[in-house]
Amino acid sequence: MNIDPIDPVSRPFFGGRVSGIDITRPLPPEQVAAIDRGMDQFGVLVFHGQHFHDETQIAFSRNFGALEEASGDLNWGQKRRIESPFVNDISNLDDDNRVLAVADRKRLFGLGNRLWHSDSSFKALPAKYSLLSARHIPGAGGNTEFADMRAAYDALDAETKALLADLICEHSQLYSRGILGFDDFTEQDRIRFKPVLQRLVRTHPSTGRKSLFLASHAGAIIGWPVPEARALLRDLVEQATERRFVYAHAWRQWDLVMWDNRATMHRACPFDASQVRDMHRTTVASEQSTMEEAA
Ligand code: OGA
Ligand code: MN
Repeated sequence: MNIDPIDPVSRPFFGGRVSGIDITRPLPPEQVAAIDRGMDQFGVLVFHGQHFHDETQIAFSRNFGALEEASGDLNWGQKRRIESPFVNDISNLDDDNRVLAVADRKRLFGLGNRLWHSDSSFKALPAKYSLLSARHIPGAGGNTEFADMRAAYDALDAETKALLADLICEHSQLYSRGILGFDDFTEQDRIRFKPVLQRLVRTHPSTGRKSLFLASHAGAIIGWPVPEARALLRDLVEQATERRFVYAHAWRQWDLVMWDNRATMHRACPFDASQVRDMHRTTVASEQSTMEEAA
């Protein structure tokens, strides 16, 4: 197995391509450990030609920790297209595998992925790794972009680092969807998506590196007036997603892309809504909340 930087010239430390390994089969512990080290180094790893189905994807994902359930999905607790509770449905398909209508509620909720975010930052125990398998992709568009929140933190001046050091944010899908004007939530959704607290600056448990824990789900800072908090969060997201910090992944069918939500943000890019895009995501939960992490 080899891991090489995808862009050795402009982003040698962010985004790695893994070759010489079939991750759809059971792996020896040394190879799992090598992938973990690659994640610590590159934040995002790309594997081409991995013919996953849900069971094999779940088995590979479990190498990295306990999986979280797809309880952030809008239709959680109802009939779902995908059977396993450990698989997030990142597609534009209905339960009969037909492309959703442009104004379908599930599709509009899913457009929240177009905003920069870190997966499950709206859960008290947010995501560690996300693993996204491209089962079917559109003919054009539909890239996923990743931004390096470690490099973004490092680039802040000392004054800003001091200002942010101890800030605590509230994260909720009600905030992120609200940005796009989606407010078609039931009373139950509102209870389920009640805001959770997250540190704004976090320290990576294995590398010790600090990073900005930002997401469109962040809608308030404890002790700050809301407009002032949102203005700061906007500025930070803008700076942290400058093109120099971003890797844009152009998908091939059967790619598996794995990212560390503790050190990155990502967003979906647009594509022709009449074409099928079917991606299945498994998610490894963090071992501790950001509130338990060292300051
Ligand atoms: C995700 C996600 C982006 C995309 O799966 O968590 O945000 O491009 N996906 O589908
Ligand atoms: Mn996501």
